[in-house]
Amino acid sequence: MCGIVGYAGPQHPEPTTRPLDVALQGLARLEYRGYDSAGVATLEGERVQVTKRAGKLQNLREVLGENPVTAGAVAIGHTRWATHGAPTDGNAHPHHGGYDGELALVHNGIIENFAALRAELERDGYTFTSDTDSEAAAHLVAREMQRTGDLTAAMRAATARLEGAFTLLAIHRDAPGTVVAARRNSPLVVGLGEGENFLGSDVAAFVDATQEALEIDQDQVVTVTADVVTVTDAEGQEITDPRRYAIDWDARAAQKGGYASFMAKEIHEQASAVADTLRGRIEGGTLQLDDMSVDESVLRSIDKIVVIACGTAAHAGSVAKYAIEHWCRIPTEVELAHEFRYRDPVVTEKTLVVAISQSGETMDTLMAVRHAREQGAKVVALCNTRGSSIPRESDAALYLHVGPEIAVASTKAYLGQIIASYLLGLYLAQVRGNLFADEIAALMEDLEQIPAQIQQVLDRADEVEQLARAMRDATSVLFLGRHVGYPTAMEGALKLKEIAYIHAEGFAAGELKHGPIALVEEGQPVFVIVPSPHGRESLHAKVVSTIQEVRARGAKTLVIAEEGDEDVVPYSDVVLRVPRTRTLFAPLLTVIPLQIFACELATVKGLDVDQPRNLAKSVTVE
Ligand code: F6R
Repeated sequence: MCGIVGYAGPQHPEPTTRPLDVALQGLARLEYRGYDSAGVATLEGERVQVTKRAGKLQNLREVLGENPVTAGAVAIGHTRWATHGAPTDGNAHPHHGGYDGELALVHNGIIENFAALRAELERDGYTFTSDTDSEAAAHLVAREMQRTGDLTAAMRAATARLEGAFTLLAIHRDAPGTVVAARRNSPLVVGLGEGENFLGSDVAAFVDATQEALEIDQDQVVTVTADVVTVTDAEGQEITDPRRYAIDWDARAAQKGGYASFMAKEIHEQASAVADTLRGRIEGGTLQLDDMSVDESVLRSIDKIVVIACGTAAHAGSVAKYAIEHWCRIPTEVELAHEFRYRDPVVTEKTLVVAISQSGETMDTLMAVRHAREQGAKVVALCNTRGSSIPRESDAALYLHVGPEIAVASTKAYLGQIIASYLLGLYLAQVRGNLFADEIAALMEDLEQIPAQIQQVLDRADEVEQLARAMRDATSVLFLGRHVGYPTAMEGALKLKEIAYIHAEGFAAGELKHGPIALVEEGQPVFVIVPSPHGRESLHAKVVSTIQEVRARGAKTLVIAEEGDEDVVPYSDVVLRVPRTRTLFAPLLTVIPLQIFACELATVKGLDVDQPRNLAKSVTVE
């Protein structure tokens, strides 16, 4: 949701295209976040030039092709996901601020008190040309600049007046060579280059230019020139040791690498992604986690776990519940983050909250993390994005290490989240003594086999793609699963809804007779996820009866079953095979055909697989 990029380089005697090129490349790499308009601003001499267009980045490039723009040393850019005001040219960012348009500003987030600010600024004679909340911030910073003559002080004073969530970047006619930024409840990172520096909503904005980044904390202001980056707090005190970190994402991960879509690429990367999540976790015979700074005595004292997350991450949390309860014998609840926060949950110092988030910026999850910590709970974040808000505001973090996920629909991060949950569960079992070291080692050994098994499933992608192509006209698909197959069914349905726009529902197979079976009619496609016949016998038998029940009512049964499971064959129209693994690890394999199915079906329907309508990659507003 909204992408932001900023650049400060050296002042050239002649105008240069470097600032604009960096801004446009950064915006292209942030496209995955979802947007409906785009724009850039540069400073050439005393002129603040803003170019912006509704629609895709290509529209902006075309205007810039017709009316080329050069720059002195700085540029800012923005991709907007409309909240206040329709996605039009006028509402696109950057916005001019000041009586003469002497400032340009981009904004990510929502300014809650913008109406009062706008009225106040209009009384002062400032002219508004858009319906956005952001334009109020632009004029506010410009007014403070007029008062103080210092863009950093102006940004600080302006942000003190703002309520809500924001990342702001501004350039000003009287501050050549400088970009000033601020953040509250919205992401911002700084990229440290050689003789040039960068700003971005996430490191994807500048990952091909530098591997060094700085975290910017809540309510901090950062002033960036070609050579100097200065971070100050809300009182104007300099932060002398802002947190620096190395970016371990490869710039190539932000390219399609020959696949038709990022989603297809990310599905096919899952074997190596999971191997990366697992890498280096065992040291000296014991399990190690990244930033596990919660004291072991605290972990031993917890009497409840609450997993909070949204969407796909919540499905990973549902898988985690089965594993953690089984291994650790700690009651574990899974709750959608937006529901958790508003229902006055029972959380104490003995509750461990596990926040799962690919982006680390999902506002619903971040708010739930804060709420949990206010109640005294310890929070562990399972996250893919270093430097993002959720791990920063948690007590401990375990990173997924699956690399950047560009497609809006989450795939490899989902598998990374499940693995990370298992690692956390095993770590707790180790610390609390629920499992012996040899039991943990045996489980880890089986987990180590998973990347190769994922590859075996991927090697059969053709079969699933053929099925998807044959079903391109389907209007409704049901998904059924039991035990850990239930979250897999939910995830399969979510994938199909979000990228192929097909009505899809996931159910617990046992729930079928309590209502959903009424939906089954002649030809209704039903995916059934079958547990291993080598696991719990009764579980397997019950799911096989489910297949029979829906088949008897005319359903087309699409069955995902373990290799060698012959019991399903008589009742299946199609059987998609996965290798044998432990019951608890099966979700890492059984979801893959469902991801491929959704991806291929959306592709044959000619849809935008990576940027489905109405969706954003990172949901940074509640
Ligand atoms: C679905 C999807 C979303 C996200 C959800 C949480 O494919 O991507 O449902 O899983 O918005 O996002 P994160 O994990 O970034 O908190």
